[in-house]
Amino acid sequence: MFLPTVSCYNNYTLDSYSDKPAILGGTSIFNEPIAFNQPTLPTYDALSAAFAAVIAGGQLTNDVNVARLEAKAAELFGRPAVAVSCCTSGLILAAKMLGLTGQVIVPSFTFFATSHSLIWNGLEPLFVDIEPDSWNIDPQAVEAAINPKVSAILAVDVFGNPSHKDALLEISARHGLPLITDSAHGIGGAYKGRPIGSFGAAEVFSLSPTKVAVAGEGGLIGADSDELADRLRIARDYGNAGDYDCRFVGLNARMPELNAVIGLASLGMLDDNVRRRNELARAYRQKLADVPGLTWQKVDPLSLSTYKDISVLIDPPAFGLGRDALASALAAEGIPTRKYYWPPAHRQSAYAGLISIAGDLTVTERISANILSLPVFSHMKETDVERVCRAVIRIHRHSALIGA
Ligand SMILES: Cc1ncc(COP(=O)(O)O)c(C=O)c1O
Repeated sequence: MFLPTVSCYNNYTLDSYSDKPAILGGTSIFNEPIAFNQPTLPTYDALSAAFAAVIAGGQLTNDVNVARLEAKAAELFGRPAVAVSCCTSGLILAAKMLGLTGQVIVPSFTFFATSHSLIWNGLEPLFVDIEPDSWNIDPQAVEAAINPKVSAILAVDVFGNPSHKDALLEISARHGLPLITDSAHGIGGAYKGRPIGSFGAAEVFSLSPTKVAVAGEGGLIGADSDELADRLRIARDYGNAGDYDCRFVGLNARMPELNAVIGLASLGMLDDNVRRRNELARAYRQKLADVPGLTWQKVDPLSLSTYKDISVLIDPPAFGLGRDALASALAAEGIPTRKYYWPPAHRQSAYAGLISIAGDLTVTERISANILSLPVFSHMKETDVERVCRAVIRIHRHSALIGA
């Protein structure tokens, strides 16, 4: 049996971490697997009157709740907001309404919906690398990728960590290329004191069940003008401005009224949820601070991440095991994880022949192959974070045996 040679890890006595990991036949830390992610919902009582009013009125779409949600989001963003059926449809419509052509610069370290939205518009994703510490699109790689075919930059606020808005906006202005951000994870975050939602031509958010604010399904777009917001509202309604004569081909990308009721209540919980996730992120980092081979996402001290996900980069020689072995050992402890984002977007089979790569994606490849997202949701108990950390520590302590 491999036993630790030091007397304690941050907050843990020898006894608490030297017990055998479940993958080696020990008792699982969780008898029943915990959730990886759960929506933190308003109570039914908080929603029932508004639900009842929607049903009584019979107006299931295009009504007051969507308008109220947009007004609340506009207050948060400090500029016009448009509600849509989901972030993917919002991204598709934003690219269409901004009249993009040719190539769009985009990171590959993202959920594939980011780049899907370009391909649905007949655009070519031009993938660039990310920064090794923030895991967000690298402004220098963006600058280097610009060529006459590029019509826009599509950044991503990965895991809710704001991308480098100043640098990206400067490049966008200098080259006359609109900056769109897939901020599916970013609602409630801030960059240098300014709310996410207020940057660039458009920022697009997801309100799906895995996000920090939820509507069931749904999305929001922060738009840089009333004119763009109006066009997006027409675009989400087939392209029909109301006279039954479509000026362009839109989608049905409307958010239903019942979803808007949930979204509205969820926005009311946003500050608390973001604060709570920051506390959980701090707890993870602190409790695992002494474990070698673990690196956390760098969040600029002037920014506020939403921690939609809490992910950790594993250095296999230092930790003693690779990402996949750690994921299996955690699963045996009743701890589900996700490999966000593996494979990275540019490796999706569906993209063969449809994409280009600028420079190389060395950082993306390394991070994608070694990253693991740990359980987190806004109402997760800190004692459960502690138990997850305990599992990681004991797996590390027994890594030689597990890896043998
Ligand atoms: C980065 C990113 N972009 C886009 C989406 C798509 O969001 P939606 O499901 O609302 O379309 C997701 C969903 O998780 C995402 O993580």
